[in-house]
Amino acid sequence: MSNETIEFGDAFRWGSATASYQVEGAWDEAGKGESIWDRFAADPDHIADRRDARTACDHYHRFQADFDLMAAMGLRSYRFSIAWPRVVPGGTGAVNAAGLDFYDRLVDAQLERGITPFATLFHWDLPQALQDRGGWADRGTIDAYLRYTEAVVNRLGDRVSHWMTHNEPWVFAFCGHLFGVHAPGSKDLRTALAVAHNLLVAHGRAVPVIRAGSPGAKVGLVNNLEWIEPGTDRPEDVAAARRWDGAFNRWFLDPIHGKGYPADLLAWYGADAPRVEPGDLEAMAAPTDFLGVNFYTRRLIVHDPDRRDGPERSFLAARQIYWPFVPRAEFDEWEVAPEGLYRTLLRVQKDYHPAAIYVTENGTPWPDKVGPDGAIHDLYRTRYLARHAAAIHQAIADGADVRGYFVWSFLDNFEWGFGFTKQFGVVHVDYDTQVRTLKDSGQWYARLAREHRFPLADANAIL
Ligand code: FCB
Repeated sequence: MSNETIEFGDAFRWGSATASYQVEGAWDEAGKGESIWDRFAADPDHIADRRDARTACDHYHRFQADFDLMAAMGLRSYRFSIAWPRVVPGGTGAVNAAGLDFYDRLVDAQLERGITPFATLFHWDLPQALQDRGGWADRGTIDAYLRYTEAVVNRLGDRVSHWMTHNEPWVFAFCGHLFGVHAPGSKDLRTALAVAHNLLVAHGRAVPVIRAGSPGAKVGLVNNLEWIEPGTDRPEDVAAARRWDGAFNRWFLDPIHGKGYPADLLAWYGADAPRVEPGDLEAMAAPTDFLGVNFYTRRLIVHDPDRRDGPERSFLAARQIYWPFVPRAEFDEWEVAPEGLYRTLLRVQKDYHPAAIYVTENGTPWPDKVGPDGAIHDLYRTRYLARHAAAIHQAIADGADVRGYFVWSFLDNFEWGFGFTKQFGVVHVDYDTQVRTLKDSGQWYARLAREHRFPLADANAIL
């Protein structure tokens, strides 16, 4: 094995990420309104372990101690999200001062410790009151989002230097409105496409609002991107993989970079395609300062005209296959594929030339157990992080302008429809006691954040 070291520049940001609904708890405190996730998770049939996130990691009350730990680890950037229903409980109308006060304290607590806040405005916890009026399928939600954004940036814009409009429009649109596994739980392609469209319009229209309230700040959108390959070289599989890539990657990348919607997918969707109003495409293409890339997997895709397990899964007449020798994460459909991250970053650089790229999420679940020694020996996660960091290092060497990396996640937390059954944290959370324990992977990551380098052997070791 090599004695080489993988070195990053000192300016490269090592951070961690969370999202409001997954960690905060305090679901009805200090005037917070109901979110669609509060409503969705209240039905235990929607969540794998039949639990909800009313308390979650109780980060709402414990953030000072959580940031002490983060600072001790040397993590100098933190990506978190703001819960819209805390700030505007009814979705539109009155702003809840106590909600803004909370985020004011949250931001100051980061800055006091030398942590740079990266704030996401929408990470899926839409006010239920807006869902009752059609949610993101209704264009009225775009205006509501702009007013909510204005309230937040006017309050925090002097201290938050990096803003993200939305987290993962495709997951929100498709998992929530076509596959039915996320809030609000609908199953309709046309609705999913309308939701995705309105999210992208809202993103673009929010950019100038953020710039006005937070002068000099950097603004971007976070997309989850996957590396898609055909499962065979048969022409129908190649075409299926191209459709899949079109539906999940290009559909969200092309319009924000001024290319409009991909023509092949517009033709495929036909009458289900979203109604584009005058000015929408121009709005979506608002110039941004960075692209956030969440990366979890590669997918091998084949043509499958006869897929019959529900219309929601067959909308592309394609399905994912697996090669038995490719390792998979402890997550339904995810291959462990650092090479996919490398290729995705170069593809984004080459095809879209964003002003900068951040890997805004990457990480893996693992069924961690606290050992008899009280420690969590998650070597698997350490290897995963090392391989993905090495992939980023190589992508930078080959021309991708990647400025930082945010591990998903800082804490074990509520993993949406999987409830608490998936542990992604580099910090373990005991949900009975709320005790936090740094995992072995967290110690490894903390060292990388402090030293900006790690031994290549950590990435290329088999064990
Ligand atoms: C992403 C989400 C994030 C988390 C990870 C595992 O899709 O943005 O909230 O659930 O997956």
